[in-house]
Amino acid sequence: MPDSASSIKESSSHQSPTNQPENTSAREQWSSRMVFILAATGSAVGLGNIWKFPYITGENGGGAFVLVYLLCIASIGVPIMMAEVMLGRRGRNDPVTTMKKLARESGHSRAWGLLGWMGVIAGFLILSYYSVIAGWAMAYVPFMASGTFNGLDAAGVNTVFSDLVSHPETLIFWHTSFLFLTMLVVARGVRGGLEKAVTYLMPLLFALLIILIFYAIDTGAFQKGVAYLFTPDFSKLTTEGILSAMGHAFFTLSLGMGAIMVYGSYLPAKTSIAKASFAVAFMDTMVALMAGLIIFPIVFANSLEPSAGPGLIFKTLPLAFGQMDYGALFGTLFFILLVFAAWTSSISLIEPAITWGMKTFQISRVKMAVFAGIFVWLSGLLTVFSFNLTSDLTITSTISTQYGEFVILKNATAFDFLDYLTSNIMLPLGGLMIAIYAGWLMKKEYSRDELDISRAMYALWLFLVRFIAPLMVVVVFLNAMGVVAFIRTIMGV
Ligand code: PFF
Repeated sequence: MPDSASSIKESSSHQSPTNQPENTSAREQWSSRMVFILAATGSAVGLGNIWKFPYITGENGGGAFVLVYLLCIASIGVPIMMAEVMLGRRGRNDPVTTMKKLARESGHSRAWGLLGWMGVIAGFLILSYYSVIAGWAMAYVPFMASGTFNGLDAAGVNTVFSDLVSHPETLIFWHTSFLFLTMLVVARGVRGGLEKAVTYLMPLLFALLIILIFYAIDTGAFQKGVAYLFTPDFSKLTTEGILSAMGHAFFTLSLGMGAIMVYGSYLPAKTSIAKASFAVAFMDTMVALMAGLIIFPIVFANSLEPSAGPGLIFKTLPLAFGQMDYGALFGTLFFILLVFAAWTSSISLIEPAITWGMKTFQISRVKMAVFAGIFVWLSGLLTVFSFNLTSDLTITSTISTQYGEFVILKNATAFDFLDYLTSNIMLPLGGLMIAIYAGWLMKKEYSRDELDISRAMYALWLFLVRFIAPLMVVVVFLNAMGVVAFIRTIMGV
């Protein structure tokens, strides 16, 4: 049985769902669509938007990558989000049980539970590195507040960052702190507080991003930044770039691993899934584009490299804060808000595992949170050491064919490997299975009933989840892995 104390606390907030996944009939629900939108936005908006989107855009040459990313959000992301929320609401359970239950309902194999399983594992793995990076953001709060960056030039800021990541003990300290905060919420189920945090802090983050855009306009390189983001240069687009853009569409919308399914399971029956999904995807995309509009002008104004990698925002934003009026104040606030955004995402990353574990092992939420916390903490050390002790321990994986060399991973550290495995493979695969299930296997009367949208909209949705989304995922997969070339080589065509 779940921990009764925390159940009572949770239910007494009247805002939030209970932590009793097995009790489907009495399952509490979000109090309104707005609360669901807030929670899902809290999950979607996180490090993916502000840290990852700018740096992978920089690594993949800008405009063309952004265009593919936006296309993926619209044609795969939104329809799959609708599908995932829908499956969650219909199943009203943890992802593994939901998939088994729905498969039974439509007369299909219980093996669909594997989809839930993959999500549980993906969530674990993502959280292990997510927590380390969120730890970097936490470390920047005292840096900002104490004026560490005041008057520093790009080289100076770079040194602060390199110094931080080269000390495993410091990274472990921040990783532990962040994970502790996450597990605290997960264990105690104080979601009422979380909703308030999202309600107030998300708009504040928006406001700060707008202030930073004004700063970016002031750098003199704003147009260059805009051109970099929005003028596609297809010569810079690689197959790996396309895979990465698609993977990121899943990552940034928290799709393909059951997180949104769990949130959907608390959604009241009457609320419109389509409107909620649009709203979440829209806000998420806005935050990512705003982050890009801030970072790249700073990059160009200071003659930095857009392809600096995972440290990009940590090397650029302090320059801006170091130069602007009240920079220390804004900078401190910014990194606090970034930690909050990461926090609301990390909770949803581990939620599928928690709900599944509670049910499977029949243990309390607190116990499951402790187990999960220890496991994630240990796995996080792989990422911590990727930036220092084991930074030379890399793998490169290529497939060479007569059509050329296909690089799957190049000098990948453990962190790069985990990121690749989860974002580029597990989430799209999970999304593909969700699309196939919702589009082909679920009875149409069920999906029509759940989605409750106009005939035309339903037809469009069905077309997207049946054909476009699966096709795009499969084609991108095959291409990126060089499998097409491989098969061609084998068949000698
Ligand atoms: N969407 C989050 C971000 O962009 O930071 C990361 C994430 C959260 C991915 C939850 C997947 C997930 F299930």
